Amino acid sequence: MITAIIGVGNLGRALAGHLVAGDELVVLAARDEAHAVELAHELGPRVEAALVEDAIAAADVVVLALWLDQIKELVPEQARLLENKIVVDPSNPIGFDENGQVVRTLPDDQSASSIVAALLPASAHYVKAFGTLGADSLASSANREPRRVALFYATDDDSAAGTVERLIRAAGFDPVRAGGFADAGRLEGPGGDLSQFGLNGAVLDIDQARAALAATEVTA
Ligand SMILES: NC(=O)c1ccc[n+]([C@@H]2O[C@H](COP(=O)([O-])OP(=O)(O)OC[C@H]3O[C@@H](n4cnc5c(N)ncnc54)[C@H](OP(=O)(O)O)[C@@H]3O)[C@@H](O)[C@H]2O)c1
Repeated sequence: MITAIIGVGNLGRALAGHLVAGDELVVLAARDEAHAVELAHELGPRVEAALVEDAIAAADVVVLALWLDQIKELVPEQARLLENKIVVDPSNPIGFDENGQVVRTLPDDQSASSIVAALLPASAHYVKAFGTLGADSLASSANREPRRVALFYATDDDSAAGTVERLIRAAGFDPVRAGGFADAGRLEGPGGDLSQFGLNGAVLDIDQARAALAATEVTA
């Protein structure tokens, strides 16, 4: 199985390193191809760099490690190639104000996932994943001892869920399904209650993650 990571910035770099350490095959693409080539060289023979369209065409799973505005441009351009692919969306509706403070860029009742999923072809298999932790936390917490860190994901698609669980484990984390597509916004910072922001910076193990989910089910 091949995973394309589109975007090799903070998030794409951390995820690519973890997947390669977990023996996954990865193809990288960026706006500037040289950035993908550089990271691919750093990460070794299980990684290739490619143009965006070639990376998507080669992959079974496509991770959109881009900002939401960039996803809004890229997905319509690549819609045909994204048909039937598992598409993993880690995006958050996050921006920064003039003081450098994090702000939400969408109305409270709108999620980034609703925007991204609506742009995808109907045959794509949408999963919200890999965006709940800050990139620094993601980079530093793979294969944590003695207990792995849990990563929430959300999807309506059971077969895509199995594939993404495999990738989360390969990356060195424990997967926890937070629900279906309707729950994806809960995984998005800054407001989502299952994002690291919403958890006051906490990084949870699988029992803590399940307890966080159960607590909201009781009070819902
Ligand atoms: N940073 C975090 O802590 C964090 C945590 C959780 C989730 N996320 C989410 O992850 C996403 C990426 O965040 P980031 O911090 O990794 O961003 P970033 O460091 O700014 O990296 C963005 C990457 O996207 C690439 N890119 C932009 N437009 C492109 C296009 N049209 N085609 C191909 N590649 C393109 C850039 O290419 P170049 O290298 O050529 O410029 C760059 O590699 C965001 O949606 C964010 O909400 C981020």
